[in-house]
Amino acid sequence: MKHTPPLIAPSLLAADFGRLNDEIMMVNRSEADSFHVDVMDGSFVPNFSIGTPIIQAIKKQALKPLDIHLMILDPERYIDHFVQIGADWLTVHIEATVDLHKTVTHIKNLGVKAGVSLNPETPETRLTEILPEADVILVMSVHPGFGAQSFIPETFEKIRTLNRIRQARNLDFLIEVDGGVNLQNARALVDAGADVLVAGNTIFSSPDPEETIHLLKSGH
Ligand code: DX5
Ligand code: ZN
Repeated sequence: MKHTPPLIAPSLLAADFGRLNDEIMMVNRSEADSFHVDVMDGSFVPNFSIGTPIIQAIKKQALKPLDIHLMILDPERYIDHFVQIGADWLTVHIEATVDLHKTVTHIKNLGVKAGVSLNPETPETRLTEILPEADVILVMSVHPGFGAQSFIPETFEKIRTLNRIRQARNLDFLIEVDGGVNLQNARALVDAGADVLVAGNTIFSSPDPEETIHLLKSGH
């Protein structure tokens, strides 16, 4: 069982956009490791979220890397764009791109960490070929599109399986979990093999977001 602290990626989808600057400053001050930015196209998922002008505004103030999660169809069309506006990590969905290998290679060639995400109903066996290429595997623990949903418990088994495969094949991708992460399940997720915890509502709806980040980080 691992006991290294996880990386914490607050999901700005749950931030108060009326006081976005304060929210960014809070993350900058906190023990968080990055900013998780959800991009939705209304097609791959039934919602819209954060787009170019907001990402540019975030990038100006952020003192930590931007972890951009593309929930869009044919993401290969926009890889250069998101790198240009400040992605440090860029994640695409395996269900949304035709040539995953080409897309991942393109992201890496631009000097950015390449992530591959899979929806709750997508089996991890679909990742077999891409695991050696990917820097990050983002495991969705809710159906993508909305914040504040309940964690899907089957995600634990998926994370454990990916962790086992990682050890057996001697690979070094990070396992990131996104959706419904809270103070009750964080520790168990890290024990199962998760390296990066994305959390939206748990952080931004809490009375003391900075302290909540600390608690997620320290495994309380
Ligand atoms: C959902 C997004 C998540 C979301 C997580 O489609 O990918 O990043 O913001 O929100 P919480 O932590 O509130 O479930
Ligand atoms: Zn996300």
